[in-house]
Amino acid sequence: MRKKIVAGNWKMNTTVPEGVELAKAVVAKSSEVPAGVELVVAAPFTHLCPLAGVLEGTKVGLSAENCADKEKGAYTGEVSAAMLVSAGCKYTILGHSERRQYYGETDAKLVDKTRLALANGLDVILCVGENLEERDAGRHFDVCGEQIKNVLYNFSAEELKHIVVAYEPVWAIGTGKTASAEQAEEIHAFIRKTIAEKFGAEAAEETSILYGGSCKPSNAAELFAQKDIDGGLIGGAALNADDFIAIGKSF
Ligand code: 13P
Repeated sequence: MRKKIVAGNWKMNTTVPEGVELAKAVVAKSSEVPAGVELVVAAPFTHLCPLAGVLEGTKVGLSAENCADKEKGAYTGEVSAAMLVSAGCKYTILGHSERRQYYGETDAKLVDKTRLALANGLDVILCVGENLEERDAGRHFDVCGEQIKNVLYNFSAEELKHIVVAYEPVWAIGTGKTASAEQAEEIHAFIRKTIAEKFGAEAAEETSILYGGSCKPSNAAELFAQKDIDGGLIGGAALNADDFIAIGKSF
C-alpha cells in the first residue's frame, strides 16, 4: 500500500516565531487526521532547527523546500542535504515550479540534487507540472513525461522508494484555479504509467503521487478520492492550521 501524504509547502512565508506557532497549531490538531495519513511541513531553512524541536515525537514530519546540488564547500548561500538531515529533516521538496521558473532549476540540476538528497538519507518530494501555455497547446502529458524521465529515470527502483512525486500544474498554483479531479487524475495515471515503463508496475503502484495547486478543504476530498492521487502538496491553505488539518482529514 502506497503512503498517503499531505505536505504543506510554506514557501517564503512566516517569520521564525510565526512558523513555530503554526507548527504547534498543526501538531495540536494532528490527532484528528487518520493514522494512515502522513503529515509533513516544508519550511524555509531558517525555520528548520526550531521546527525540528516542535515536531519531534509527533506525527508531523519535517521537510526543506530545496537543497544544494553540491555536497559541501565554497558555495556561498547554499544548504546541503547533509545539513538538512542534521537539522532534523526527513524530506526535501525538489524541482518546485517556482524554483524552475525563478531560479533556473533544470532537470539536470535536479538529478544532482536528488542524488545527494537520497545519498544523505532524505526522502525527496519531486515536483513536475506544465504551465498554462503548455496546457493550452495540449502538451501537458509530454511536459510531465519528460520531467519524469529526465529526473526519475536516473535512479534505481530501490531509490524510487524514497521519492514521492508531486504533480503541480503551474496554472493552478496560487491562482485559486484547481485542476478538476478528472484533469488531475488523468495526469497522475499517466505519471504512474511513465514510472511503470521504467521501473515496472509494482514499483509504480508503490509510488505516492501528490496533487498540488489551489488544493483546499473544499476540493481535497474529491481530488483524494481519485485512484492515482495519494495526497496533496499544499501551499496557501497550509498557512492556516485548521485548513491544513481539514485537508489531512479529506481521505
Ligand atoms: P497553492 O496551494 O497556494 O496553490 O500552492 C501549491 C504549491 O505550489 C505547493 O507546492
